[in-house]
Amino acid sequence: MFKHLISASQFTSEKQLVNLFDAADQIINPHNQNYDLRRAKNLVMATWFDEPSTRTRLSFESAMLRVGGSVINITDKHSSSFAKGETWEDTIKTISNIADIIVIRTAKEGEAERAAAVSSVPIINAGDGGGEHPTQSILDLYTIYKHFGSCNGLSIGLVGDLKHNRSIHSILKLLNLHQNITYHILHPSALGLNPKEFLQRGDIPVRIHKSMDELVDVGPDVIYMTRIQSERHKISTAQGQLPEYNYNPKLHYLNMKQVERLPGTSLVMHPLPRGQEIAVEVDQDHRASYWRQVKNGVNIRMALINSMLFDVCE
Ligand code: NCD
Repeated sequence: MFKHLISASQFTSEKQLVNLFDAADQIINPHNQNYDLRRAKNLVMATWFDEPSTRTRLSFESAMLRVGGSVINITDKHSSSFAKGETWEDTIKTISNIADIIVIRTAKEGEAERAAAVSSVPIINAGDGGGEHPTQSILDLYTIYKHFGSCNGLSIGLVGDLKHNRSIHSILKLLNLHQNITYHILHPSALGLNPKEFLQRGDIPVRIHKSMDELVDVGPDVIYMTRIQSERHKISTAQGQLPEYNYNPKLHYLNMKQVERLPGTSLVMHPLPRGQEIAVEVDQDHRASYWRQVKNGVNIRMALINSMLFDVCE
């Protein structure tokens, strides 16, 4: 496995992903006598989160505890020596002499990579601004694999703030490792992504839709919804004003009637937190997969922590 996990682009084959998924399946199998579930005992994870998080931080911490380790954390950088002017590099060098693995979420793109450059222990990027969120995309694909057995040949809808959502940036890198995927894209104007930038092979079919109804009517296998990342819009405009992005709840919102029109096998996914993009009633439908994604996130992070600490997943 990798020493550090900074970008989903570090995965270069479907097989690497499948190996990790197999490890996650084994780790949660209560009948698997061969797996030492407490292997990380005596090891410590440090989590550094300077952006809000519920799922990702607790999921990493829960995963570390479940593989036998312990957790220490900083959730407010102003309570650390960073506030006294210590550099990011010195901060990371310090933590890497205290903990055995470090999970980082920062508001700035590239900070996880800078941390990896100076850390003596594994660094995991848990979201760097509008950059990437590799572990979210791994758990997303794990959820798709558990349902469809593969991602090859699927039609995948991507909806919302595709420009700023780091989960989208990472999931596209993992989906690029697969064959015959068709994309159906729906986003408010000004919040799209440059398909060429993300879809590296020029022959990948991408259809841009004008409304949720239109997208639902193609019967996609997966609809991956995302929240409007308004916190990033402030950063990306010179005057600190929200740009005109024409979010139209009628066009970009998934309601129960639309979910009922989807094929029975479709998955409705979301990295969460939910803004206003999915009706709460959808939670009751078997196609709603976002709570399952949260659960799968703990299992996949257990496997990932083990593989990064002990290299069990080649
Ligand atoms: C996402 C994030 O923080 O990037 N959530 C998550 O980690 N599960 C998505 C978001 O904030 O919209």
